[in-house]
Amino acid sequence: MRKVSINSMRKAVRATKGRAMRLVIMASGRGSNFTAIDDAIKSGKLYAKIVAVVSDKTDAAVIGKALKAGVPNVVLLARKGFATRNDYDTALVELVKGFNPDYIALAGFMRVLGKEFVGRFTGRIVNIHPALLPSFPGLDAQKQALEYGAKVTGCTVHFVDEGTDTGPIILQRAVPVLEGDDEERLSQRILEQEHILYVEALGLLADGKVSLTGRTVRIVDEGDIE
Ligand code: GRF
Repeated sequence: MRKVSINSMRKAVRATKGRAMRLVIMASGRGSNFTAIDDAIKSGKLYAKIVAVVSDKTDAAVIGKALKAGVPNVVLLARKGFATRNDYDTALVELVKGFNPDYIALAGFMRVLGKEFVGRFTGRIVNIHPALLPSFPGLDAQKQALEYGAKVTGCTVHFVDEGTDTGPIILQRAVPVLEGDDEERLSQRILEQEHILYVEALGLLADGKVSLTGRTVRIVDEGDIE
């Protein structure tokens, strides 16, 4: 089989060889994706360690869930303590850098990351979005799909760039929109798939099976990596 040419991703992938992938999760809300990832790790499905959970919201349920789950660092860094967006971004970089992550997984982090953060961790930040990108980016993706009259929507795990939900796509899963769906029912069915898809994507990253060239993500076998 053709060898897959290697790019900057490979370094990050290689760094995880032989040890658990160090994962920082950033979240602002309920934390169901955090729990799905944590469960997958604890059940041995995902070879990773959540080294920190970072939230920007004081009342985020994910904070309690992370503490209960025994995550070693659970940090609240609220935007309001910082004069400018850039100052906040710089503080986030410093904080996350200290945890020495292989990957950073955004799981409902309700803030667009700035240039500095994305630049510092290029190719190592991933996000989950509740629609089949590039359709329905941004907020209320499930509502957008319903209002548009889409018959199929779903979820996407993608690398994060400076745009809103515009980075290279790693994996997607389709979810049909059913007759009589409202936002809540559709969101719930998508969420069930998100939990499966995020764990699958993180597993591929942990195993060094994700290669990124430009916008193109390939899932490769280890033997295909030069
Ligand atoms: C999910 O729907 C995810 O796709 C979006 O934010 C939501 C987070 O949910 N980015 P949870 O906090 O993981 O339950």
